[in-house]
Amino acid sequence: MKLPPFELERYFAANEFTAKRLLCVSDCQPLTVGELLSLKEGAAEAFAALPLGYADSRGAPELRQAACALYEGMAPENLLVHVGAEEAILTFFASVLEPGDRVIVQAPCYRSLRDVPAALGAQVVDWPGRQEDGWIPDLDFLRTALAEKTRAVVVNFPHNPTGALPHRDVFRDIVGLCEQAGAVLFSDEVYRFLEYDPADRLPAACDLSETAVSLGVMSKSFGLAGLRVGFAASRNARVLAGMARIKDYSSICGSPATEFLAALALEKREQILARTRAITLRNLAAATDFMARRADIFSWAAPKAGPIAFPRLADGGDAGALCDRLLAATGALLLPGRVYGPYPGHFRLGFGRADFTEGLAVLDAFLDREGSSAT
Ligand SMILES: Cc1ncc(COP(=O)(O)O)c(C=O)c1O
Repeated sequence: MKLPPFELERYFAANEFTAKRLLCVSDCQPLTVGELLSLKEGAAEAFAALPLGYADSRGAPELRQAACALYEGMAPENLLVHVGAEEAILTFFASVLEPGDRVIVQAPCYRSLRDVPAALGAQVVDWPGRQEDGWIPDLDFLRTALAEKTRAVVVNFPHNPTGALPHRDVFRDIVGLCEQAGAVLFSDEVYRFLEYDPADRLPAACDLSETAVSLGVMSKSFGLAGLRVGFAASRNARVLAGMARIKDYSSICGSPATEFLAALALEKREQILARTRAITLRNLAAATDFMARRADIFSWAAPKAGPIAFPRLADGGDAGALCDRLLAATGALLLPGRVYGPYPGHFRLGFGRADFTEGLAVLDAFLDREGSSAT
């Protein structure tokens, strides 16, 4: 498999740990180990006593049991824990696809969802969304595309990079169309639980369909990216077994230390989610105000969930140049849309971190200085 450079990850590798202000990251304000352990009496002592041997390759039973609470009808045997969501993306495609298989992928997308199947020799069909439609891709397009034999369909709601979230009826239609066509639905749900209106939360695909795979992670809504714990959830035993087969060649198993902490976080999920939601909603209000004040320069489809959005330069200019000038002048980091493919007029805004409003003030002052020549 010949993978292209992952431009988004290379951009962060070059800039994330040197930039003074992060205005584009996709995770939420991280918790410390101490904060997490303090959520339960006796947790610190149990953590200190944990043997650091190999872990159950499916994921610790306590962790899989705790993760079942995120779904309606999952049992521990329906879950396969991975090192982050990223590893599960790799194991899914590597186990399910044969060269030449057709895969329909929502666009834009977190690029491994598209580039891994392409690198495995699949024929990738982009299923595009448009800002004008709130980035919800068109169901008729999917219906037509599924007329040709298709191995898998890939969606990501709440969506990276736009924060789009369809109505649950639309999501049910997507699930139904995939089932009718005999295509496995791979549903990346890593931003689930960060819906601004909890009533908008979609059911997990794995609960709606016996063949679909749902992808969850501790990185985003839970603010625990450093745990590197993700999970595939599915009643499709054949697909999960295939993913486990590939995982034996990647990580084999996770770390008992981070799986312990992830299980604890899931047990205390209401508290943790309330915290990340509060930070995200406060920052969203500031971002919404910013976008209204700067409507002469930027437009967006307001996000419905998650800590990111994908604004566009109103004059169709190159957002990458703006990102470069901002970084050079202030040390504040935005993510240029080009890392998602043909979206050079866009940039990603990330508002899950506690210091977002300070960073936004830096961007505001920079735009004031640039005046109407900001593009
Ligand atoms: C949609 C989506 N899927 C998967 C991942 C990978 O998640 P992780 O970093 O937890 O492996 C990300 C990370 O940004 C993402 O945005």
